[in-house]
Amino acid sequence: MLAIVGGTGLTEMPDLEIIQRHAVETPLGAASSGVIQGVLNDRDVLFLPRHGHPHKLPPHRVNYRANLWALKQAGASRIIGVNAVGGIDPGLSPGALVVPDQLIDYTCGRESTYFDGRFKPLQHIDFSWPYDAELRHTLLRAGEVAGESMQDGGVYGCTQGPRLETAAEIARMARDGCRLVGMTGMPEASLARELEIPYACLALVVNPAAGVVETEITMAEIEAALESGIERVKRVIRSLLAE
Ligand code: HPA
Repeated sequence: MLAIVGGTGLTEMPDLEIIQRHAVETPLGAASSGVIQGVLNDRDVLFLPRHGHPHKLPPHRVNYRANLWALKQAGASRIIGVNAVGGIDPGLSPGALVVPDQLIDYTCGRESTYFDGRFKPLQHIDFSWPYDAELRHTLLRAGEVAGESMQDGGVYGCTQGPRLETAAEIARMARDGCRLVGMTGMPEASLARELEIPYACLALVVNPAAGVVETEITMAEIEAALESGIERVKRVIRSLLAE
């Protein structure tokens, strides 16, 4: 079953016909909310708001391990993580939709693995290509069918937050090759890989990253970009379910 992890701005899927709400508790603690199982476009789908519903958990407080575990328990066989991001590439304006193909993890101190010797015995997973190629392709095709222009590829840099970055941090990330910056892409992607669930990211640019333009980043501009952008994200998801 396809699962959607909703990011900022996507705390619910209004046209989802809810069939079941799964338990919040997992062996790894509480998930952000109970996984919602429902039907959309005649297809079964799972939905989990990453920050809880209502939005309450900051990126560094999300229990990513519990969330991914809860999705697996509920029957997720493919996962799309929806992420609001800042654009480091100056060609990315607010509203752009991007399906990244690589990531760099700049976070620290997050519970980021099931293979910690306590919960599961140690394994070193291959993570050369963090996103599932087939699912990325399906996602891009769904965008095309929905008539939404989406960009293929780029490096997603995941920062710790919750503060936004300095201009120097973003300049360094640009030198590292990052096109996008967000706070929630990791460890979600690697936990999905540990659980052997194909995972892809649908990133919505909601602001130019720090220092990319001269003006300050304001919550008002982020909220405005989210409001219109999330409708486009929902269209892509509906199209994905119709595939
Ligand atoms: N930086 C980090 N995370 C973000 C940003 C940003 O500029 N915009 C939205 N999420």
